[in-house]
Amino acid sequence: MKHLLSIEDVSREDIERICARAGAFAENQQREIKKVPALRGRTVLNLFYEASTRTRSSFELAAKRLSADVVNFSASGSSTEKGESLKDTVQTLSAHRPDAIVVRCPWAGAPALVAEWTDAAIINAGDGKHEHPTQALLDIYTLNRRLGSLDDLHEADVVYALRMQNERMQQAYLPSMREYASLFQINARRLGARSLLMHPGPVNRGVELSDEVVDCAQSLILEQVAAGVVVRMAVLFELLAASRAFDPVPEHQSA
Ligand code: CP
Repeated sequence: MKHLLSIEDVSREDIERICARAGAFAENQQREIKKVPALRGRTVLNLFYEASTRTRSSFELAAKRLSADVVNFSASGSSTEKGESLKDTVQTLSAHRPDAIVVRCPWAGAPALVAEWTDAAIINAGDGKHEHPTQALLDIYTLNRRLGSLDDLHEADVVYALRMQNERMQQAYLPSMREYASLFQINARRLGARSLLMHPGPVNRGVELSDEVVDCAQSLILEQVAAGVVVRMAVLFELLAASRAFDPVPEHQSA
């Protein structure tokens, strides 16, 4: 794999290998020294054109735990505010020879364009209404860890809630958030007794989820956040180091 632009490009075998590596990294994270030398001497550039808490912090931590050098770029406070284009910014920062560029932006398809402007491996860290492939991977990893397998699940074994992404909506689709919450909010009454609850964050408490379900034992929300670090370590490893000698997963476990 050269880039991670879309979950459609990732086979079941790739997903199982990435999840196995993430599991091996998770064991490592229990130790006092959490760093491994897998990406020593490599440079990861986090290019963020949109607000982010989870994706940004976990990619930074993932790269640092793999011993990579990390450069964090935010559009806010950069020459983007003076009118510099995405292409010029990518080409400028590529002069620092990053091995991987992690791209979060509001423009669908922009990470694929970035891949044409640089030699670095590109990871789509969310491109607006389009995709967020590392979120998909960490969701699979989280569920697999909790349930042991994703085979033979049925509807509402897992309830996955999303925030109303008002920043991506041109029209008002709802009379009011109060009415939306009243009709659709997942609360203790609506969540099945055995259903697991997931949400990528950030949660608008009291809108799509009630306070009590965010914090209940069925909620996997914080497990998803924790999985973000080890899954992103596994993705960076897959793109930058999988062909090298060090591998946290013995050959026979990765198939
Ligand atoms: N889930 C997710 O992408 O969260 P952030 O916007 O905080 O990165």
